[in-house]
Amino acid sequence: MPVSRRGFLRIVGPERTAISGAFLAARGLEAHLAESQAQGQRARPLLPPGVDEIRISSNENPLGPGRVALDAILGKFPEADRYPFNSTPSETDLATAIAAKYRVKTENVVVGAGSQEILKNAMRAFVTPSRGLVTALPTFENCTAFAKKYQLPLTEVKVDSALRLDIEPMIAAAKGAGLVFFNNPNNPTATVHGATSVRAMVDRIRATSSDTIILIDEAYHDYVTDPSYETAVPLALSTPNVIVSRTFSKAYGMAGLRIGYAIGMAETVKKLAILKMPYNVSVLGIAAAMASLDDPQHIEEERRRNTEVRAFTVKALQDMGARPADSQGNFVFVDIGRPAKDFRDGCAKAGVMVGRDFPPFEKTHCRISIGTMEEMRKATEVFRSVLRGTGTGTGNAKNKDGEA
Ligand SMILES: Cc1ncc(COP(=O)(O)O)c(C=O)c1O
Repeated sequence: MPVSRRGFLRIVGPERTAISGAFLAARGLEAHLAESQAQGQRARPLLPPGVDEIRISSNENPLGPGRVALDAILGKFPEADRYPFNSTPSETDLATAIAAKYRVKTENVVVGAGSQEILKNAMRAFVTPSRGLVTALPTFENCTAFAKKYQLPLTEVKVDSALRLDIEPMIAAAKGAGLVFFNNPNNPTATVHGATSVRAMVDRIRATSSDTIILIDEAYHDYVTDPSYETAVPLALSTPNVIVSRTFSKAYGMAGLRIGYAIGMAETVKKLAILKMPYNVSVLGIAAAMASLDDPQHIEEERRRNTEVRAFTVKALQDMGARPADSQGNFVFVDIGRPAKDFRDGCAKAGVMVGRDFPPFEKTHCRISIGTMEEMRKATEVFRSVLRGTGTGTGNAKNKDGEA
């Protein structure tokens, strides 16, 4: 059904309550959103007709953005013709809103097209042929992949026996490094370090290598339940050469909208601001992110939901003899005692997509993201039958630069 621009503006403007069912039916996603809102549910991912797939492979939020953010997106469509500096709110408004959340200035925040833009620009800004990258193995591979691609010096420190980042060797390797990438909680292991050890690590690296930048990636911050954990944002705001990166892709449910940010002392983060792509965040993303900052209740609910489903999943895995590591994220890294590929292929045959290989643990461990309770009830049944040795399939193994 063709819709005029004026008609569209009327639909998504102040009189949004008069949304036309026929219009939405013709629009696919909008219809889906409207229907789920009318039923008092949050939006679920759209799948091709006839495919009953459970995607628990990429650490996404299975419920998507909250209602307030969805409303903001719908209301912003008419301004999709504007550049992000020319819309209201603008990209600067978003940086200012994030800064206000932490009671700091806009210059303490750099917004990125997802936190991957922040990570990539940190590599560009701080890692050189003479000052390398120190990171963990396994960890989120964005920085590692950059170092490999451009043949920059790289030290990967294997996680310890509890699958936690091994701090001592990381501190030792940091001397003279350009950048230390410290992912807390760590993807894919989901383990976390408490505030005391993070602070001590920062102090010790600064004592021996004060020019080294320490980038603490807190993509999964909102999912942590370990009481020893605290965000390192206050540390970054008071310590030179420390940056925290955050994202709206996980608990905020906006992986497709691509909004992340760096926060730290103005002198430190301005090196990332210089490298920022022009107009890197979209008008719709800005609106959604700003609306969600005003809706902390939604993040609380999402944390509660994830904690409950994560506990269910961990117990189910333990009951079938698998050994999950402590999880502080929206995913579990589990020892299944066999190659991840075999398990993944078996699960894929039943429509359950689990994580890719994470060397050096690809022969024993698999990463499973936390879906909805309904999805995880079905998925754990599939896990049980695959681990019993009854499933085979075609699999979905991928390992691309920056892939979640
Ligand atoms: C630790 C970590 N950092 C950053 C990202 C990238 O997130 P974004 O969508 O903000 O680029 C991911 C994505 O999975 C991640 O696991």
